[in-house]
Amino acid sequence: DHTSISTSPLQANAHVLLLPLPLQGHVAPFMKLGHQLVRHGSKVTFLTTESIRSQIEKVDEEEHMRIISIPDGLALEDDHKDDNRLVQSFLHVIPGHLENLIRKTNEDELIGTGQITCLIVDVVLSRDPIEIAEKMGLKHAIFFPSAPGVLALILHLPKLIAAGIIDADDGTVEKNEKIQLSPNLPAMDSADFIWKRPGNKSNFNQKDVFQYLLLVNQILKVPNWVLCNWFHELDPSANALLPNIISVGPLPAHDGKSTGNFRSGDLTCLPWLDRQSPGSVIYIAFGSTSKFSQQQFHELAFGLELIGKPFLWAVRSDFIDGISIEYPDGFQDRVKNLGKIVNWAPQEKVLAHPSIACYMTHCGWNSTMESINMGIPMLCWPYFGDQFWNKSCVCYGWKVGLEMNPDEGGMVTKHEIKRKVDELLSDEGIKANALKLKELAQNSAYEGGSSKNFRDFVAQLML
Ligand code: UDX
Repeated sequence: DHTSISTSPLQANAHVLLLPLPLQGHVAPFMKLGHQLVRHGSKVTFLTTESIRSQIEKVDEEEHMRIISIPDGLALEDDHKDDNRLVQSFLHVIPGHLENLIRKTNEDELIGTGQITCLIVDVVLSRDPIEIAEKMGLKHAIFFPSAPGVLALILHLPKLIAAGIIDADDGTVEKNEKIQLSPNLPAMDSADFIWKRPGNKSNFNQKDVFQYLLLVNQILKVPNWVLCNWFHELDPSANALLPNIISVGPLPAHDGKSTGNFRSGDLTCLPWLDRQSPGSVIYIAFGSTSKFSQQQFHELAFGLELIGKPFLWAVRSDFIDGISIEYPDGFQDRVKNLGKIVNWAPQEKVLAHPSIACYMTHCGWNSTMESINMGIPMLCWPYFGDQFWNKSCVCYGWKVGLEMNPDEGGMVTKHEIKRKVDELLSDEGIKANALKLKELAQNSAYEGGSSKNFRDFVAQLML
């Protein structure tokens, strides 16, 4: 029995079991979701892999939540950095563990948590767990950690197939069209369908992703609720996509701290930011999985030198595809009075810091929401999957950012980087839009929006 329990529980009637996809961009919002549920009176048990549990416990103690774990199913000789393999393996092992684990938690009076009353599962993992929850008589919800347009796209797949726009087998685009998925957002370019955007992930199989999305299209109709990490004003028509959507975004940082992180944020950047002038620093970070080629990495470094403004750059040790980090000759010396480089930034604290002028981002959905929530204009540099669509919304829907355009060889040059940073920093319209959206996001969190939605949701769990 590999199940183990880490911290002691709280008292309440509703007891939610959270089951995120075992990847950084999913575990963190689930942890925030958990903290919000606790704030609104629910007990929460957080289920993840053994390896992730040990990483998040090293970084921060989640004292309000019980964290339990199961093996990820990977063999020692498997590549543990291969996200695709990890997800496949975890999908495979969950059904064997979940039912027992729920029974054991429910029977174990020593734990004293009370019966698990609801399962909230990541949309990507949802097929078997929702079936198990139904069978065991639990309430069930899917958490959708991506943008409203992505949900709309998944729900429109049968219509796109019927209209002959995409192939039913592998999602190949038969007719290049811009698809208007929402009256409030830009039309989606067929090149940006998420299964068409592999980045440089060699294991990304377009057909498999597409077929899985078709399955998700069906599963989304099953759960009692679909919780979405967005707020009403981002797309006022989004809550009509399904009858049971509850929008819970923007999920706030717990006590202002990042939560559910696999790595510790380097806090030395905060006193450094304190020493910079208000609205002067370019923050650069590309989430947890994006990778650059060595050449593109150098071009970005040269671009930052060319701009000559203060910058804070988060450079993960695995950020360059295939090799360890190598800066251009003498780069770190030349920029030592200009920039600060960290391995992993305390991103939400950084985005909330008054010195930040703009955020150069890969447009992962969490980062996009965090930036919107802090009113920071974005320079969009998407890498794979949903990020291209997120970029379109940021630049042409909400008009809170500009996009980097690669040259014919696919390279974003240092001149393009400088041009776009200069353009963004002098665009008062974008700054004003970002501040307006921040206000809407924050009002939504506290007045009648996600906070009320949470209260209502937890009240329904207690029925
Ligand atoms: C992935 C996908 O890329 C994204 O498009 C999808 O919607 C969710 O899963 P990821 O690439 O990691 O996630 O990006 P993102 O969703 O932006 O999540 C990154 C998280 O890491 C953010 O919450 C951000 O605050 C945090 N982060 C990132 C740090 O705390 N420090 C850093 O240095 C970089």
